[in-house]
Amino acid sequence: FKTLDQIDVAGRVVLVRLDLNVPMKDGVVTDATRIDRQAPTVRALAERGARVVVLSHFDRPKGRIVPSMSLRPVAAPLAAAIGRPVAFADDCIGEAASRVVAALDDGDVALLENLRFHAGEEKNEAGFADALAGLGQIFVSDAFSCAHRAHASTVGLAERLPTAAGLSMQAELEALGAALADPRRPVAAIVGGAKVSTKIDLLNNLVARVDAVIIGGGMANTFLHAQGIAVGKSLCEADLAETARAILARAEAAGCRVVLPVDAVVAREFKAGADSHTVEVTGVADDEMILDVGPKTVAEVEACIAGSKTLLWNGPFGAFEIAPFDAATVAVARAVEKLTRAGGLASIAGGGDTVAALAHAGVLDALTYVSTAGGAFLEFCEGKELPGVAALAQ
Ligand code: 3PG
Repeated sequence: FKTLDQIDVAGRVVLVRLDLNVPMKDGVVTDATRIDRQAPTVRALAERGARVVVLSHFDRPKGRIVPSMSLRPVAAPLAAAIGRPVAFADDCIGEAASRVVAALDDGDVALLENLRFHAGEEKNEAGFADALAGLGQIFVSDAFSCAHRAHASTVGLAERLPTAAGLSMQAELEALGAALADPRRPVAAIVGGAKVSTKIDLLNNLVARVDAVIIGGGMANTFLHAQGIAVGKSLCEADLAETARAILARAEAAGCRVVLPVDAVVAREFKAGADSHTVEVTGVADDEMILDVGPKTVAEVEACIAGSKTLLWNGPFGAFEIAPFDAATVAVARAVEKLTRAGGLASIAGGGDTVAALAHAGVLDALTYVSTAGGAFLEFCEGKELPGVAALAQ
């Protein structure tokens, strides 16, 4: 695909797809991480004299105008991040959009209203994609976190206009590609989170590609259950026992080591300050639930990572939102931080919960690369072709 430095943008109207689907409360952006990550693309284009038109969706209005899902409150934080004023258009196509675009000078920036207020966006309707494309001359795709969606603004525009990848799209693809396509070995992957059901494809792909898979979080309970271990009242998808056994068999056939918890922190209720203690995984009582992995497991995980050169991390170990069940996630995060800083480990993490857990542990900046994508990160790690990435090659 083409990169930003390979296109001539001076004096041109450049449509830039960002992912400004950021956390917001009462009309105020509460976390600007995604904005900050994508701002360099907008800044670079504006500095080179482009007339920059920013496109994005926000939330899931399902083709209707939902005032609480307007992108208007994002204009000011975007302006702050790029250090330039940002004009706002009340619609992303039609008269309102054309007027704002026509008023742009070289180096100016405008943000258009939520793409998903039009049903044509998610359906990648020709008429809608034509209307968007008609606003500009060049398309820059910088929303890796939307690349798993085959929408008008991710695929349709790439089919209609000369296209380049933005700086954050390029960084995501390079970092994730380096972790999965041609990594320094051994490669370990941490797969955590609540449910196996959402990570079956991920596990099946990883066990065939990496040297060790470390399973944590609620989903580890399903694997323990599948091996005949009683997990009491723990979160467990009992109907997926067969699937879990098949994943373990696949790992064994591929020579991939699977690290499962050997001890666990259990409690009778899931609330802050609940009475908790550590048991072997074979010692969970009927009325107890596993809410974190124990120190023996943490030591095993740390040893596994210390023996690896690349780590891919998706999903926390325990119910990290509530102390003390954040202990294992925080301990492993700190170990990863140390190994990364020492230069021996390339650490790549992604997914909403994972980013929140790493931020909670205070190590977000220490990792080699942290992807802000959720679904797209997962699908990339599942080995799937992302339509928004495939479109860049056209
Ligand atoms: C995300 O937050 O992962 C992206 O903005 C995609 O949002 P979506 O799942 O609503 O398509």
